[in-house]
Amino acid sequence: MKMVLASKNQKKMKEMNEILSTMGVEVCLQADVGIDIDVEETGTTFEENSLLKAKAVMEASGLSAIADDSGLCVDALNGAPGVYSARYGGEGLDDTGRYKLLLANMPKGEARTAKFVSVITCCFPNGDVLTARGECPGTIAFAPMGEGGFGYDPVFFLPKLKKTFAQLTAEEKNAISHRGLALEAFQEKLEEYLK
Ligand code: IMP
Repeated sequence: MKMVLASKNQKKMKEMNEILSTMGVEVCLQADVGIDIDVEETGTTFEENSLLKAKAVMEASGLSAIADDSGLCVDALNGAPGVYSARYGGEGLDDTGRYKLLLANMPKGEARTAKFVSVITCCFPNGDVLTARGECPGTIAFAPMGEGGFGYDPVFFLPKLKKTFAQLTAEEKNAISHRGLALEAFQEKLEEYLK
């Protein structure tokens, strides 16, 4: 089955493809089907934004479209940056600037628990919608560690593994990450849907 991916984040795309290709799903890029859409993420939940993106790409391409909306929710910051993870601190910041700002904003002496959340939505041209959610608990490190991954990976610490996401291989991260878990749940729903 062919699906158009509603994202331009190359690293995220790579992670999604590594997992989705094992399901026999052929994921193609917007450019492959001649569209180029940037959907404004006006929702206040991961579910809303994920649906907005998948629906817009499905409508523009006429093909099934899959979107992921994800972010980091920090307990001591009342769930921030949350759905605003990609825009935390404003437009001028890059990934490094954003995680440095997060470290600076962490309240001293409070718990550093956090979770990554991913919501995958697939919109089919007949109007059907499949949604799956994955969460990965961890803590916010005191300083960045590791070179892999993207985004907040260097500061997202997994106490059981004593490593940040950025210190894991792609396979290790996919096995436990919010996106990996959401994709696993999505696979089950898709298999059921296609029966
Ligand atoms: P989205 O493209 O709207 O889903 O933005 C998600 C943002 O959350 C990304 O730009 C990253 O800042 C952050 N994020 C989501 N997943 C991850 C991850 O696996 N590692 C690090 N940062 C992530």
